[in-house]
Amino acid sequence: MNQVALDEKILRGEKSQAVRKKLIGRTPKSAKVSRDGKMSLAQEVVQTVDLPHPIYIDSAEGPYLNDIDGNQYIDLTGGFGPNVLGNRPEVVERALGSQVEKGWHFGIPTSGQEQLSVLIKEADPSVDKLVFCNSGTEATMYAFRAARAFSGKKVVALFDGSYHGVSDYALVKADAKSDRSRPTSTTLGSGVPGVVADELMLMLPYRDDTAFDLIRERKDELAMVVVEPVQSSNPRLDNQDFFSQLREVCTECGVLLMFDEVITGFRIAYGSCKEYYGIEPDLVTYGKAVGGGLPIGVVGGRKDIMDTFSGADGAPFIFTGGTFSGNPLTMSAGIAAIQYMKDNKDEIYPYLKTQGDRLGREVNQFCRLENIPAKLMNAASMFHLVFSSNEVNSARDIDSSLRTVEREFYLHLLGHDVLVPGIHLAFISWAHTEAVVEEVINAFQLAFMDLRHDGLI
Ligand SMILES: Cc1ncc(COP(=O)(O)O)c(C=O)c1O
Repeated sequence: MNQVALDEKILRGEKSQAVRKKLIGRTPKSAKVSRDGKMSLAQEVVQTVDLPHPIYIDSAEGPYLNDIDGNQYIDLTGGFGPNVLGNRPEVVERALGSQVEKGWHFGIPTSGQEQLSVLIKEADPSVDKLVFCNSGTEATMYAFRAARAFSGKKVVALFDGSYHGVSDYALVKADAKSDRSRPTSTTLGSGVPGVVADELMLMLPYRDDTAFDLIRERKDELAMVVVEPVQSSNPRLDNQDFFSQLREVCTECGVLLMFDEVITGFRIAYGSCKEYYGIEPDLVTYGKAVGGGLPIGVVGGRKDIMDTFSGADGAPFIFTGGTFSGNPLTMSAGIAAIQYMKDNKDEIYPYLKTQGDRLGREVNQFCRLENIPAKLMNAASMFHLVFSSNEVNSARDIDSSLRTVEREFYLHLLGHDVLVPGIHLAFISWAHTEAVVEEVINAFQLAFMDLRHDGLI
């Protein structure tokens, strides 16, 4: 179906009209905030819900979000990933309350930094040393700098379909028109100098052995290869061979390997994807879950590379800073969350995997039975619904012509009280009970049927 026909169907669709009427009718306060905000905000925080207008959240608890109009939704946003334990877990709330009574920002560190670093090292024994910063973006940016300083080489390689935050280096993407096995790079959005894509970064094909040839060819200028052990655009856990080979090739070529575990850290397993795959990268970045829901980034790894942060033992010193790095509130929330995960890891992680796989399996079974061209991809509790009849190997296989249908799907899902944010990456948490997961499965089925009713799929 072409775009014009699709738009026409949505415009006239009985279900499309009904869900818009329902959502607009029950969210007048959000509509007003959105109108008023346009006077002063250059942009909403990106990728929130904007169907049919932004919806503003007032409070959250466990698996639920409540908007400012008093509507309740099952939350599949997971705070964009950090909320592995759900919204407002009691242990974190208590820790934050105690910290607030003592003060929340001193600049000078508290002992919380040491406590959280010990907890992270316990979960990830391959980390000799680590540093804290305020976001995943900062963490990956520092890691690129450390790798360049340590190796004396300037190029950092990323994979097609990856996301590593919004620093200039991370905003280098594969040119969608380029050869999928030897992709060329381009920059995302204005303001990032082309030289970053042309000279400082290398794009590698994902789940494609040509990546190993490219690393071998460029090894003399390649400081580090960076990979998300689960790409949020293409969540899956069947990469054992690819990652094992990647580790071997990087070692053979004298190129550092980094796992960017900002989104997977303490979500896929207590020991993160490194534990799941049994692979030791040289550097790792964490973020999201490690802060217990407060802003955080972490760079960790081998002592000799991490020495660049202090210049210890003659390592080339890199400059870093950050007013709020290691702040006491984040440290308290992170300690409470990670300690809880540690104490309950044998229940939490099998549960997240079982329920995640169940959600994926049941939605996919339904799609197969009903002949719906969609697949819910998942890596344990992380999901991405791909509207495509093709087998998805890398993000290149995702059929972007179905984006309008995808958007409409999430509108209907919201109409059935399940909220997935605009990035269309969904999560369940420890707080999503089996009954809640059942409700999510039902809502997915109803939303697909709404699309079918209007002839969109
Ligand atoms: C793998 C990965 N790296 C880095 C980032 C950037 O983290 P932040 O949004 O905290 O800057 C993200 C965010 O989604 C991510 O998924």
